[in-house]
Amino acid sequence: MRHLIDFTDLSEQEWQRLYRRFEEIAERPGDYRDALRGQTLASLFYEPSTRTRLSFEAAMLKLGGGVFGFSDPAASSVSKGETLKDTIIMISGYANVVTLRHPKEGAAMAAALYSSAPVVNAGDGGHNHPTQTLTDLVTIRRLRGSVGNLRIGVCGDLKYGRTVHSLLRALARFEGVSAVLVSAPELALPGYVKRSCKNLNLTEEPDLRAAAGGVDILYMTRVQRERFTDAAEYERLKLRYTLTPEILREAPKDLLILHPLPRAGEIPEAVDNDPRAAYFDQARYGLTARMALLLELCSLPPFTVKEPEPGGGTACGNPRCITQTEPYLPASGGGVCRYCEHPLVTPPGV
Ligand code: NCD
Repeated sequence: MRHLIDFTDLSEQEWQRLYRRFEEIAERPGDYRDALRGQTLASLFYEPSTRTRLSFEAAMLKLGGGVFGFSDPAASSVSKGETLKDTIIMISGYANVVTLRHPKEGAAMAAALYSSAPVVNAGDGGHNHPTQTLTDLVTIRRLRGSVGNLRIGVCGDLKYGRTVHSLLRALARFEGVSAVLVSAPELALPGYVKRSCKNLNLTEEPDLRAAAGGVDILYMTRVQRERFTDAAEYERLKLRYTLTPEILREAPKDLLILHPLPRAGEIPEAVDNDPRAAYFDQARYGLTARMALLLELCSLPPFTVKEPEPGGGTACGNPRCITQTEPYLPASGGGVCRYCEHPLVTPPGV
């Protein structure tokens, strides 16, 4: 690992090491008070965030390091038209680690091309969110003992839900995982994510009650309002699925209910006192998991960046891809966009 663009950038050994580190920090947080003294985290959030940004910043402060950045791009030179490339070249020279959240798919991958410090993808549009996956996996392992051999139901916005994309791809690397996909047809899991989850036993179940009855973990997500171009369509789909206490009465006694948060009605507050509700523990573990990740990234040997060659390739047609707003980015060869992973279609006559 040099950057964390998606969870699958981590090798099996790196994941094991991160988990051990997570356990050690959870046991003896005081031992790490000065572990990153003198190091800095750049926190670049081009899109709203509560947990991810604040838990990363708290993680760095708890390790004795410093934090700078912005949570509102309108307050930075981005509002003057500065490119992502220029921002990253400069900021990565000020920091030991750069966390980036951006509304465009593939933004973190693009930033990594120019960054002289490790880049952590803190969410790139509706694409990936690997540190939420790290949070999810440490929660599952801590509360269940292991990640493999489990049945997980994922429910809600599987189309735009970046936490779901990263989580399923990560779970595909463990043995014996089956996933039940619960969504409206309009919000089904994209083909490019399905194709990268070959080792996962995927089934679809439109009935939440039926899905909840047959899984070990239920991962709820909110419908991602900010990704819709049609407000009426969002209104129509937003509460297609609600995990009610009544559904839970029939669900397994040892079910684990997870949610990356924020929620928008799909888990009513009445569920919070159910002993199976683990989403607030999950958010708490996210802080410790990010401390473990920062320790790892800050111990990497320094590297130099080589300006990428512009080269040939095909322009990506996905309107949500980072290449749409940062046109200097080298185009991708092969069949899929290297940034957002959408299939590349050669325009007619080329
Ligand atoms: C998620 C995100 O930003 O993708 N939140 C988070 O990081 N915990 C989920 C969401 O916004 O729905």
